[in-house]
Amino acid sequence: MIHIDLEQGWVSEDVPGGERRHPLGSSEGFALVSKAWLRAGWDAKYVYSFTWMGRPVIQLPDDLLRIQEVIYAERPTLIIETGVAHGGSLIFYASLFKAMGLAGRVIGIDIEIRPHNRSAIETHELFPYVTLIEGSSTAPDIVERVRRLVAQDDRVLVVLDSNHSKAHVTAELEAYAPLVTFGSYIIATDGIMHWLGNAPRTNPDWAWNNPRDAAIEFLSNHAEFELAMPKPAFNEGVVEEPVTYWPNAWLRRRA
Ligand SMILES: C[S@@+](CC[C@H](N)C(=O)[O-])C[C@H]1O[C@@H](n2cnc3c(N)ncnc32)[C@H](O)[C@@H]1O
Repeated sequence: MIHIDLEQGWVSEDVPGGERRHPLGSSEGFALVSKAWLRAGWDAKYVYSFTWMGRPVIQLPDDLLRIQEVIYAERPTLIIETGVAHGGSLIFYASLFKAMGLAGRVIGIDIEIRPHNRSAIETHELFPYVTLIEGSSTAPDIVERVRRLVAQDDRVLVVLDSNHSKAHVTAELEAYAPLVTFGSYIIATDGIMHWLGNAPRTNPDWAWNNPRDAAIEFLSNHAEFELAMPKPAFNEGVVEEPVTYWPNAWLRRRA
């Protein structure tokens, strides 16, 4: 249980034998309030309330800003994303390429690209940066199509945001990790599933059947990758724990 007292400026959590209290503005206090906020946001479908340049993007804004920091610093030339939905994240990455003056490309793979989404993405001013591929991200012919689109000198970053079952994310990690450039990342998004408990629209098996657990298991079999959540590029506050839907998501291919 988390208790928040805005009058007194503290937040506490129940621990065995009592409660642990923190100032709201401390690193621990902010982390606790964020935990409550993330859970409320899940229940309220907060991430379903944003667009990027006209396209709905189903992401926590914090995660988008963080990945923007990495893209600006690392300057990938190719971003591969599984899970397109309305295309907002593809357009987001494309807009960064345009803003950076990079001739980058974004490949989006989805098992079903609905006609109205396809049409809106294909007529978007940033579509020249985008390649859409329809099919299951783990189907061998789809993986092969993507592989053929990777040039030898590409700097590749991969975002996995399709089916979030452990088995599917594991299969995606196995299929796409070899495409990741040394020093770059493959990101298994939405590991937040593992601690949502009995929140609405969840399943009890999410405690283990989620991208976070897939990523942890993948790491135990792939020494060429390491868990490496990028540090904020700028931080003059006291916040240490990221506010994210993507815990244990950032797998960096060792240089
Ligand atoms: C969470 S949405 C993607 C959101 C999008 N990346 C964004 O940021 O707005 C998940 C998408 O994954 C797709 N999907 C589900 N299973 C898939 C599979 N096996 N292969 C590829 N895409 C899949 C769904 O059709 C859905 O559009």
